[in-house]
Amino acid sequence: MLCLVKATDPVWVEVALNNLDALLIDHAHCEIKAATNALSLASRAIDGRMAEQLAALAEEEVRHFRQVLDELGRRGLRLGMPLPDTYAAELRTIAHRTRPTGRSPRETLLDRLLIGALIEARSCERFRLLADALAVRGERTLATFYEDLFASEARHYRTLYDLAVEAIGNEERTRERLAELAWEEARLNARLGVEAAVHG
Ligand SMILES: [Fe+2]
Ligand SMILES: [Fe+2]
Repeated sequence: MLCLVKATDPVWVEVALNNLDALLIDHAHCEIKAATNALSLASRAIDGRMAEQLAALAEEEVRHFRQVLDELGRRGLRLGMPLPDTYAAELRTIAHRTRPTGRSPRETLLDRLLIGALIEARSCERFRLLADALAVRGERTLATFYEDLFASEARHYRTLYDLAVEAIGNEERTRERLAELAWEEARLNARLGVEAAVHG
């Protein structure tokens, strides 16, 4: 699926559906983080066009947040405080550790965009699993919601990947670095195990 080198453990979707409230609350926080990350990247954009694309991405993530928030409301759930985001934090640490010294700000931006792309790719894969499993359970509305988000995440993956190529001006370098980070992401996923969280 997209750039991912290892598929999600099939047990994940069972754990997620058996703890749907926890999953939805985590999902809402993920949309907030996706929006703030897009804005943070916009502040580091190399030109106005890149900033514009990242601002549009942030707006879309805010719309997703509001949609998940509505779902929480329908279920009588409170958003509450976010749990520590080990997955994203570890990805950033690994990228920093595996980045050769003396890298330019452009290489740092490359990594940040690629980490964003990887997170979108993993969400995309898992939203597909959720959409299919929810449809089997007869939860049509929520299945359609995750079906739509699956398509959005695939698009976001592509946007961030294309911006990474623009940031470094070298497609081969982008592909090579994404492949390195994708292996790290797969190892991290295996280490984190399965939880009722979008990236748990
Ligand atoms: Fe989103
Ligand atoms: Fe997204």
